[in-house]
Amino acid sequence: MKVGISNDHSAVDLKNSVLAHLKEKGYEVINYGTDTTDAYDYPLAGSKLAKAIQNEEVDLGIAICGTGVGISIACNKHKGIRACCCSEATSARLSREHNDANILCFGARVVSNELANDIVDAFLKTEFSNGERHKRRIKQISEIEYIG
Ligand code: RB5
Repeated sequence: MKVGISNDHSAVDLKNSVLAHLKEKGYEVINYGTDTTDAYDYPLAGSKLAKAIQNEEVDLGIAICGTGVGISIACNKHKGIRACCCSEATSARLSREHNDANILCFGARVVSNELANDIVDAFLKTEFSNGERHKRRIKQISEIEYIG
């Protein structure tokens, strides 16, 4: 599985920690985020990753800003993107199982390196359940994209 990761200036250290964890686990990872602490706005960081998912450069994404909130809002403006902001592993697992989330977001000011690894592991190892009721609800979400 190919994983994309992106981050703003507030999340360089946490991004590097998650990157190292993913590489240790054998994932192929593409870094779309900034590697410096110079201001790099989270909408740009989120948008780069969202486009990579849309173009099928990567299968799933991880997006990190200070809280995870701003970058998740930016990602969710992209068609076909279902980004979830999670500060614990249960929500991350259920976001895959029920919502077929394709981008996991969290905040460098909110979660520790260890907790981030747990959240990421839960997200990446969980498949969409493919249940009829979940497919129906996801279809309803994409219909909202067309209504605007
Ligand atoms: C940047 O300082 C900060 O606002 C950003 O990382 C994020 O927390 C926004 O949601």
